[in-house]
Amino acid sequence: MTKAMKVAIVDDEKDMRQSISQWLALSGFDTETYASAEDALKALNADFPGIVVSDIKMPGMDGMQLLRKLRGVDNTLPVIMITGHGDVPMAVEAMRIGAYDFLEKPFNPDKMTDLARKASQARRLTLDNRALRRELSDGSALMNKLIGTSPAMERLKEDILDLGQADGHVLIEGETGTGKTLVAHALHAVGARANKKFLLMSCSAFDEETLSRRLFGPAQDDEPEPAIVGARGGSLVLEDIEALSGPLQARLLTAINEQGNPAETRIVAICNLQDEGKTCESVLRPDLFYRLAALRITVPPLRQRGEDVLVLFTRMAEQFAEEYGCETPQVTAQEAAQLLQAPWPGNVRQLVNVAERAVLQNRRGSGTISSLLMSNGDDSRPAMTTEGKPLKDFVDAFERMLIDNTMRRHKGSIVAVMDELCLPRRTLNEKMAKYGLQRSDYT
Ligand SMILES: Nc1ncnc2c1ncn2[C@@H]1O[C@H](COP(=O)(O)OP(=O)(O)OP(=O)(O)O)[C@@H](O)[C@H]1O
Ligand SMILES: [Mg+2]
Repeated sequence: MTKAMKVAIVDDEKDMRQSISQWLALSGFDTETYASAEDALKALNADFPGIVVSDIKMPGMDGMQLLRKLRGVDNTLPVIMITGHGDVPMAVEAMRIGAYDFLEKPFNPDKMTDLARKASQARRLTLDNRALRRELSDGSALMNKLIGTSPAMERLKEDILDLGQADGHVLIEGETGTGKTLVAHALHAVGARANKKFLLMSCSAFDEETLSRRLFGPAQDDEPEPAIVGARGGSLVLEDIEALSGPLQARLLTAINEQGNPAETRIVAICNLQDEGKTCESVLRPDLFYRLAALRITVPPLRQRGEDVLVLFTRMAEQFAEEYGCETPQVTAQEAAQLLQAPWPGNVRQLVNVAERAVLQNRRGSGTISSLLMSNGDDSRPAMTTEGKPLKDFVDAFERMLIDNTMRRHKGSIVAVMDELCLPRRTLNEKMAKYGLQRSDYT
């Protein structure tokens, strides 16, 4: 038997609390009781290994408010609400907010047990999934190499974890330098084929005849096995798929169709979307496109990743500073604003370059970050864009970077950081939580 699931019972009436608790304990649940919503809220967190049963009418914080708050703690935590007899509007409202289900007083204890069982099963699934994901994302050094905390980046990481598990062919799209190749590596590393072959081939690196041989064979004397055979059991990454000629697209489609299900070789096609208005759909033959694009990942351009620009810049600058054995350059408010507003046509690759040059400049003691962002020599100001970035994002990104830098310099000493930034402890804690910064990362 797996460990019993918990049920947190919240009711201000002692008799009610105890009888629900006794009944559920008899049915095999590990119960805990709370006399107020406030107490329950203190005890429950996103990892709570169980479900919640709460009365609605309570003095102080009522059940509805508790439900709302719990949605904020973990919106997958099942909460069963107990409503007054015939209080339909209340039940409807509870369901609208996201209650798992409701029970009308007086209720049949068996019904309560049934509901608690179903809710517990759902909860267990959620927690197992989450644990698996954590294991994957912690376990894979490659996932950790993907720097960024913006919603776009979080979504990308989720997609990688989802599609890594899914095992069908994948299409990865994005502008140049956004990290498509890195994503292809990560996708392989978190999937079931992680310890199988990983082959990478660029469709634009060979002439048509050579490419055809390298992909499908027959191989000449000194050539490796054709890629589609060589990658059997693992993943074959085809970069610049948009460069594949019509006849080779047809051969690839045939090769894909000839494979069983699940596919022997997982094809990960990478499409470089550089030219305005061009889509992967418009350059591939439709039947091939649909085979590849069943699973699809779009890597967003850097200019749409808000705060990531500063996070990436700081991390990269630190890495280069360590490599070159010199100081990390400090970013001024004005420079941060310029980094955030630069259009980054070369995306992350360009930013990595700028960070390296900024470190070298800093070592020489000359030059500014803004001079590195100049679009061309005769321009006296760097090119700017404000695409998708309201003022608040700039402010948040800058605030995050300041706290991050200061924590780093003081090796996680909260007191030193409070002092330097003139922040009360509580505000600092709140801001760190907001930006996903953890003290343990700095000590
Ligand atoms: N999220 C990220 N975190 C850290 N480094 C990144 C990230 N995304 C990309 N990089 C780095 O940026 C550089 C460019 O990434 P990558 O080669 O994967 O881009 P790409 O989209 O495949 O480029 P291309 O279109 O030229 O093939 C690499 O050095 C990569 O390690
Ligand atoms: Mg690439």
